[in-house]
Amino acid sequence: MPAEVLEQAAAEMLDWHGSGMSVMEMSHRGQEFGRILEAAEADLRELLAVPGHFRILFMQGGGLGENAIVPLNLSRGQVVDFVVTGSWSQKSLKEARRYCQPNLAASNEADGHTTLPDPAGWQLTRGASYVHLCSNETINGIEVHELPDLRALGSDAPLVIDFSSHVASRPVDWSRVGLAFGGAQKNLGPAGLTLVVVREDLIGHALAICPSAFDYKTVADNRSMYNTPPTYAIYMAGLTFQWLKRQTEGALRGIAAMEARNVAKAALLYDFIDRSQFYVNKVAASCRSRMNVPFFLRDESRNEAFLAGAKAAGLLQLKGHKSVGGMRASIYNAMPLEGVQALVEYMRQFEQTQA
Ligand SMILES: Cc1ncc(COP(=O)(O)O)c(C=O)c1O
Repeated sequence: MPAEVLEQAAAEMLDWHGSGMSVMEMSHRGQEFGRILEAAEADLRELLAVPGHFRILFMQGGGLGENAIVPLNLSRGQVVDFVVTGSWSQKSLKEARRYCQPNLAASNEADGHTTLPDPAGWQLTRGASYVHLCSNETINGIEVHELPDLRALGSDAPLVIDFSSHVASRPVDWSRVGLAFGGAQKNLGPAGLTLVVVREDLIGHALAICPSAFDYKTVADNRSMYNTPPTYAIYMAGLTFQWLKRQTEGALRGIAAMEARNVAKAALLYDFIDRSQFYVNKVAASCRSRMNVPFFLRDESRNEAFLAGAKAAGLLQLKGHKSVGGMRASIYNAMPLEGVQALVEYMRQFEQTQA
């Protein structure tokens, strides 16, 4: 979370804008929360340049919830193509088996989830309900830098992306997307809110077994208030959207500014790792994530000492996911360039002390 956002939330905690109430105490149907929700939606639409024929839904259930909710709404019980590029898309495919017929269109499992299968080689199904792609694999550190044009690949299916871990870090090419979903807790706000951006024509086709609260039509028709929405998380996300709108890098503003900053942060870290004989990143250069940088010490017996020293230097949460091992630096939007500089400096010093 950006510190400015946390400070603003703290200042407004007991009394939101003279209302005499904390946001946590408001009725979600009251005027005050209505204004918060409306502003959050409008700001997000502007930031991400979401076209008018897409609906923005504020839901609950997280990314894993959407692994069920998307097939319940979009699959019509038919074939869905999955591109597996790491742990999260693997989980999406597994969950979808309950509701549709998943086809494994491509996988990078053979190379240990370190490359992005070339879209030209994807085995897409004619008439598939949609194609699922995780546009940033948080654990494996793989990012799709250009969304595929499915039409050019001979598929009429809409593309569904799980953009949980890089939403708002770069622009989205909506002309190539049918639906995007993501948990808020990386770049948008605290956990508890799930964002869904869905093309209007994909709404209204849920399977009969789909719970009403998860039917995109019910959610859209009720402006994300069919059931009580995660009000405080929406408020915090709204503050984050305003913070994002204020960001500048030279002449760039908002998401474009964030992207420039994220490119610089990632380049600093990857360049350092690539030049080192001590550390290594195994992901193909063309699909390295700007948000999640997994790396290894070539001598893994030094892992514990590396982590202990990092903690002492105030550099936290660097241990890699258990399925991958090694280290992982998650450098989301709120991490400033100075944070990455501090990490690189620590890595350099640690290497020197080990010589
Ligand atoms: C890409 C991706 N998808 C899905 C999830 C699961 O999200 P949640 O914990 O909100 O269900 C995560 C969580 O880290 C993720 O990074």
